[in-house]
Amino acid sequence: MKKLIFATNNEHKVEEIRNKLGGIFEISTLKEIGCTEEIPEDSGTLEGNALQKAHYLYNNYGCNCFADDTGLEVEVLNNEPGVYSARYAGESKDSEANMDKLLYNLKDKSNRNARFRTVIALIIDGKEYLFEGIAKGIILTERHGSKGFGYDPIFQPDGYNQSFAELTMDEKNRISHRGKAIEKLIEFLSKHENIK
Ligand code: IMP
Repeated sequence: MKKLIFATNNEHKVEEIRNKLGGIFEISTLKEIGCTEEIPEDSGTLEGNALQKAHYLYNNYGCNCFADDTGLEVEVLNNEPGVYSARYAGESKDSEANMDKLLYNLKDKSNRNARFRTVIALIIDGKEYLFEGIAKGIILTERHGSKGFGYDPIFQPDGYNQSFAELTMDEKNRISHRGKAIEKLIEFLSKHENIK
């Protein structure tokens, strides 16, 4: 079977992809190929980071691969925290502190529009392809729900009265930024079965 490396060790992300591509591609994680070093991702944009990670793997491990990067873009904050979403409140990557900081920065703001954006960079035989998924919504004024991760308790997707943290994982995956980007990647890969 054709092999593809996914630049992640996140089991949830891998499982979602394997469920959908398992018949066509053998998907391996970083751990499975013995990549334990930290891969650089310091380009300053989601696209740049996804490409940086995918190129690193392609150049150092010589395999077809893909990498993703996600950010929460808040309209009234000029799309911050964006590429810095994980470490918005500091290097400890603390989700609670990140949400507190965002709620504080929006405390007097009536425009609560925001979107999650995921970019996936795929490299096949040296050629690069980008796929984007967007989930639009608003930032709530307080936390709701306990499922999910990151900013989920304060993000309410358009068309819903619940936060991401109140939806089941299946419901969230169906409408999420990452779900949409993965769908595009899968559609592309299923049509390109002649990849070596
Ligand atoms: P990553 O690129 O998938 O590691 O995402 C970067 C950061 O964005 C995470 O550390 C979270 O803070 C945030 N984030 C990404 N995806 C989600 C999501 O689906 N819900 C909530 N927060 C997310």
